[in-house]
Amino acid sequence: MRWAALHGLPRAFLSLRARHGEPMATLTLGRDDSAGRLRRIEEIRAAGPLAQTPAVLVSADHEICRTVLRDNDFVVANPAETGLPDVLARIVRRLDPELPNPVEAPSMLMTDPPEHTGYRKMVARSFTPRAIATLDARIDELTLELLDGLDGRREVDLVGDYAAQVPAAVISDLLGVPPTERPRILRWGNTIAPLLDIGISWAAFRGAMEELRDVEAYMQDHFRRLRAEGSDGTPFSTMAIEGGLTDRVLRANATLLVGAGVETTVNLIGNGIVALMNHPDQLALLRDDPGLWPSAIEEMLRFDSPVQMTARQASRDTEIAGVPIAQGTAVVLLLGGANRDPKVFDHPDRFDITRPNAREHLAFGSGIHVCLGAALARNEAVTALRALFDRYPDLQLRGAPEHRGLVNLNGYRRLTARLEQEAVTRTAS
Ligand code: HEM
Repeated sequence: MRWAALHGLPRAFLSLRARHGEPMATLTLGRDDSAGRLRRIEEIRAAGPLAQTPAVLVSADHEICRTVLRDNDFVVANPAETGLPDVLARIVRRLDPELPNPVEAPSMLMTDPPEHTGYRKMVARSFTPRAIATLDARIDELTLELLDGLDGRREVDLVGDYAAQVPAAVISDLLGVPPTERPRILRWGNTIAPLLDIGISWAAFRGAMEELRDVEAYMQDHFRRLRAEGSDGTPFSTMAIEGGLTDRVLRANATLLVGAGVETTVNLIGNGIVALMNHPDQLALLRDDPGLWPSAIEEMLRFDSPVQMTARQASRDTEIAGVPIAQGTAVVLLLGGANRDPKVFDHPDRFDITRPNAREHLAFGSGIHVCLGAALARNEAVTALRALFDRYPDLQLRGAPEHRGLVNLNGYRRLTARLEQEAVTRTAS
C-alpha cells in the first residue's frame, strides 16, 4: 500500500509524462546516463527559472534554489512525497510511523522549526570544531590503514575498498558503534539510499523497509548499551545518555547520520576520482600545488554534485521571483542544476579546480537545513583523495565506471582500478 502510494502510482504517472517528452518526468525516473541527466537539466532550465510541471514547480536556477531554501515561507517536503494527492499523502504518513526513516520526521531533515531547532542544536554537539578535530585525526589514521590494505593488490574497487570505508568508519566512530559493525553501516546506507528517489521498485522499497527494521532494533540495543556502560566519550553517546532527545528522535537522527554521512561522502570521493582521471591537466595542477586540494573539492561538489535535488513546500500563499505560489505547492530544487547555472559559474561544464567562486555551489544546501556534516565531508574528501593520489601516482581506472543508478544520490557503485603503472604495463605486454 505504502509502496503503491509513494512509488507505484507516481511511477505510472511519470512514465506517461515521460512518454509525452516531459524532461522532469524523465529525470525523476532516472532513465538517463550522466550525460543525458545533464541534458535533461538544461531542458528544464530552458523552460524558465521556475518551470511548471503537472505535479510540482521545478528550478535549476541558482538564485531561486538559494532563495527558497532560505525563505521561511517554505517548509520541508520529501521529494518522494511531493505532488502526491492529499489523500495518498495522508495514508503514507499514517503507515510505519515508528521506523527511524531518515527521510521522514522526526529526522531533522524532515522537521520544521521549532522542533528542528532543538534537534539540530543537540546533534550539532557532534560537529563542534573540537569534535571534528578528533575525527580528523581518525580520518588520517584510517586512510593510511586502508591504503596499506590496498598495497600489493593488482586490482581494487575504489568505491567498495576505499571511498565507502572512510565515511562508514567516521560515522561508526561518531555514533560510538564498534568497528566490527562497519559492514552493517554500509549495508544500511546502501539499501536505504533509494528511498530518496521516486518510483523505486517494490523490491528496492521492501529491502529498505526491512533494513530500517534492522536499524530500529540495533539502535534500541545500542542506546540501551551506552546507558548501561556509560559514555565512550563521543558527543553522540553523551547526548544519548544525558537525554534531551527521546529515543525515537535519537534513532531517527542517528539513522539520518548514517544515510546523510555515508551515502553522500562516498559519492563525493568517487565522483572526485572520476573527475580527476578524466581531467589529467587538473590532477597535474594538484601535484604541482597540493594547496589547491580544498578548492578542488569545492569544484568536485559543484561539477558532479553528490546530492542532486531537494524539495520544499509553500506553507502559505507567497511568491518567488514575482511568481505567485499557492500554499501547499511543492518546489523541487535541482541543486546539481543550480551548480551549473551559467549566470553564476562561467563555462559551468568545465571542470576547473582554480575556479574562484566554486564555493558558491549549493551542494550542501542552504538556510536552516544546510548540511551539518559539510566541514567533516570536506575534510574526509581532501584527506582520502590526496592520500590516494600521493600513494598511487600511476593509478588507472579499468573499464567504465559503474554508476549507482540512483537519481538523487549521484555517484558510482564500482570503480575498478589498477594502482600501479607497472602492473598495467606488464598486463598490456
Ligand atoms: C559530500 C557529502 C555531503 C553532501 C553533498 C551533503 C549534502 C547535504 C544537503 C544538500 C543537505 C540539505 C538537504 C535539504 O536542505 O533538504 C544536507 C543536510 C544534512 N546533512 Fe549532509 N551532506 C554531506 C555529508 C554529510 C555528512 C558527512 C554528515 C554527517 C556526518 C551529514 C549530515 C547532514 C545532516 C544531519 C543534515 C540535515 C541538517 C538539517 O536538516 O538541519 N552530511 N546534506
